[in-house]
Amino acid sequence: MIILNGTSHPYLAESIATQLKVPCIQADVKRFEDQELCIKVTGELYEEDVIILQSTCKPANDHLIELLLLIDTVKRAGARRIICAIPYFGYSRQDRPNYKHSPLSASLVASLIEAAGAHQILTLDLHSKQMEGFFKVGVQNMSTLGLYKNLFSDAKENNYVIVSPDIGGLLRAQSLSNALDIDLAVINKSRPQPGQCAMHHIIGEIKDKNCIIIDDIIDSGGTLTKATHLLKENGAKSITACVTHAVLSGDCLQKINNSPLERLYITNSIYHAELPPKVKVLPIDDLFSNALRFFHKDRNE
Ligand code: R5P
Repeated sequence: MIILNGTSHPYLAESIATQLKVPCIQADVKRFEDQELCIKVTGELYEEDVIILQSTCKPANDHLIELLLLIDTVKRAGARRIICAIPYFGYSRQDRPNYKHSPLSASLVASLIEAAGAHQILTLDLHSKQMEGFFKVGVQNMSTLGLYKNLFSDAKENNYVIVSPDIGGLLRAQSLSNALDIDLAVINKSRPQPGQCAMHHIIGEIKDKNCIIIDDIIDSGGTLTKATHLLKENGAKSITACVTHAVLSGDCLQKINNSPLERLYITNSIYHAELPPKVKVLPIDDLFSNALRFFHKDRNE
């Protein structure tokens, strides 16, 4: 087994390779004048199980094309199996037609990865369960539920409540509320325009409670920070959030710093060199190493 690292994440592939005691190769990615990517991989890949690690995060299109080119390189080098470990799966939010003639982007991206030659996908907290159905190859969609559950083992005794910032995230929130055996609330959110969000009212009891907001993605920070203001106005005692994929676009960090949010837990599915003290990173290294160890063992038994 060999891990091939794309350019999206400088440390995760090395850390997983160390845990699995397998070699890690860094892909050499250069650009032509017109910005086309030029990929080189040095190392023997023939008959190997190759894990390509690449989050399709910002710049999403470049990272996606790089992933497709890496898959093709590995396929042409004669690898036995190509496993794509994609901690953050860009385009996953566009998993349904939202307006007349809208493309089904998440499905198209899944087809491209498959057509390039991927045999197996390992990912984390996909935006929706139905996205797994866009692939014909196997998809292991790991969950952060265990990581978040460990953080709040005293939640039941300390008047906590789980809050979903929108109806779409209700199942995710319900899983954590069931795991911690505490109540659940949901905010009625709408998107008047793409990229904008309006928060209407809260369904459920949050007054004088310690609120844990759970979501899959924080991008502009609009959803999370508007939710914190609404919760505070309605009497929440404290507000913490667990959001798996920290896209953190534009002035997101500033919005977080100016919000009543006390602590934001994210994962390292997307790499950030620097983060403010309010933000704490929960590593997914073990989660991914264990899943990949299992794939390899399974294949060789
Ligand atoms: C929406 O359905 C997602 O689960 C997130 O709530 C959303 O993508 C967050 O985006 P933003 O931070 O830009 O509001």
